[in-house]
Amino acid sequence: MKSNSINEKYNSLYEWSIKDPINFWSEQAGHFVEWMRPWTDVLKKSDDKTHAKWFLNAELNVSSNCLDRHLIKRGDKTAIIWEGDDPDDRRQMSYRDLYKEVCKFSNVLKSLNVNKGDRVCIYMPNIIETAVAMLACARLGAIHSVIFGGFSSNALKDRIIDTQCKVVITANEGRRGGKNIPIKNIIDEALIDCPLIEKVVVVKHTQSDANMIADRDVWYHEAMQQSSDVCNAEAVESSDPLFILYTSGSTGKPKGILHSSAGYLLHCSITFQHVFDYKEDDVYWCTADLAWITGHSYVLYGPLSMGATIVLYEGVPTYPTASRYWEMIDRYNVTTLYTAPTILRTLVGMGESYLNDSSRESLRLLGSVGEPIDADTWNWYFTKVGKKQCPILDTWWQTETGGIMLSQLPHMITEKCGEEVKPMFGIVPDLVDDNEKLTTEKVGNLVIKEPWPGQMLTIYNDAKRFEETYFTNRKHGGYYLAGDRALYNEKGTLRVTGRSDDTLNVAGHLIGSTEIEAALIKHEAVAEAAVVGYPHPVKGQGIYAYVALINEYEPDESMIGELLQLVKTEISGIAKPDVLHWTPELPKTRSGKVMRRILRKISNNEFDDVGDTSTLVNPEIVQFLITSRAQYGV
Ligand code: WT7
Repeated sequence: MKSNSINEKYNSLYEWSIKDPINFWSEQAGHFVEWMRPWTDVLKKSDDKTHAKWFLNAELNVSSNCLDRHLIKRGDKTAIIWEGDDPDDRRQMSYRDLYKEVCKFSNVLKSLNVNKGDRVCIYMPNIIETAVAMLACARLGAIHSVIFGGFSSNALKDRIIDTQCKVVITANEGRRGGKNIPIKNIIDEALIDCPLIEKVVVVKHTQSDANMIADRDVWYHEAMQQSSDVCNAEAVESSDPLFILYTSGSTGKPKGILHSSAGYLLHCSITFQHVFDYKEDDVYWCTADLAWITGHSYVLYGPLSMGATIVLYEGVPTYPTASRYWEMIDRYNVTTLYTAPTILRTLVGMGESYLNDSSRESLRLLGSVGEPIDADTWNWYFTKVGKKQCPILDTWWQTETGGIMLSQLPHMITEKCGEEVKPMFGIVPDLVDDNEKLTTEKVGNLVIKEPWPGQMLTIYNDAKRFEETYFTNRKHGGYYLAGDRALYNEKGTLRVTGRSDDTLNVAGHLIGSTEIEAALIKHEAVAEAAVVGYPHPVKGQGIYAYVALINEYEPDESMIGELLQLVKTEISGIAKPDVLHWTPELPKTRSGKVMRRILRKISNNEFDDVGDTSTLVNPEIVQFLITSRAQYGV
């Protein structure tokens, strides 16, 4: 299709989706999703718009949408091309074989007493069995909660306890960058404090043995041997939850984002089709780990629901060399690559020569997600990786939104970064000021004014927090507050520039500053700590921690090691501070509030304009921090 006609098609569909959402979504739901029972109403929203229900009283099954419905037409088509950390470790699976594997594993889960509505935690490397486990939960109507393999046993424990699950699925080991990761040991440590756990299913992914606990642990391959490959897909209602996925907030513990079955699947499918201009022969590779929302929506559910061939890769982009992605693109004739700016910046840093031995001729489209993409990285992606032949789709969305909300469209080849950002169908973005009133200013806080099908249902176990986090303005408008700053660019379209709250976006992962502070102050020597972000050349944002020690302790090398280790055991290696700035105390207001605004200025080297310090009880500390800043050069 010519670019003009794609544009016109988008415009007319978008307009329809806004003017007549009921008929629009009714039509799309019939096209993109296979139903077991039709709906009585397309949408019911609460008066304050905080809660919306889609496709009421209808039934479907997400796993059968991703598998069964393709069997006749695409049974032999490759569903998953998998490559392990070791480049010689390769495996492919057709839709039919994936279907059988999922049915078998669904029966295993059934035999372990997993029923509709039960929660199941999955702590796995990026392997085919992880996809199987997710789809098997969906087949039974059980709610999966996938936890990233990089989280520590403490972080894992908190999530397992919050879901109140009985069954965990894991592997003996994972592999990343040539190293084995002892996943099973980390699970065992977490489970010491999880009395509800009855069974642990263990995939034997590497040759190493695992310490299997009698009556609790079950080998995946042994259980699968006796399992039947026939398993009916359970009918679930549209708003029955498909999964919980934890994400960090600006305060408190991570939030269990709860997503629906029907609306979520529809949103992933329609955006996958339109943003990536999906065609039957595409080989589509989204490099995200299945444990993040990008993995859920655009490695697994969106593409499989459309019957796509996906690439799944276990390892890191720099192993064995920084050519790995480009070699894999040539090896599998990848047409569509969807990755994150932090990965691209890592590869830029390794030098251009790694691009030399690959042609990348199969590439048609390039996507970006997770954080704002800066102009240099965009140019490298466009010019070097895509040789100016592939449009770049910079997709903005969140764990909470379920799928892509704002993006460029595939026909928009442009040499300028981030022009013409389009809202997806049914998405009505706007800006509010700091008092949460709609504003005509060019810069503001991003809101979404109407509910959309892929919107999160609530925060698991905490409906109050859901309303207080995302709908503080529900009395006037009921707009979804994204927590991001955005601006109208030259084309008059909205572009997201970064977070407006105290969450940090470190290498594409959100981490709450309070989570890191809570870990630091667990150390007996730490009196107080405050964490802010600063610009980091590879990670986007780096983690800058101001730490005040109790008098008798020394800020020496061993203290640094202990504090970093503490953050690693409490949360994850990805949450470790890049800078520890020692201070006798933190700048505080008379009411005892830490002035983060000032701390942010100092870590960003913006000393001229630290702002008003008159409300501080200890204004002298600001000068101390500025003077000592040089010691912590970054
Ligand atoms: C936050 C959501 C989207 C799935 C992966 C991350 C930032 C994400 C972009 C983008 C600017 C972006 C936002 C958002 N973000 N994509 N294209 N441009 N910022 O999901 O962990 O829930 O993080 O990531 O700040 O709020 P998440």
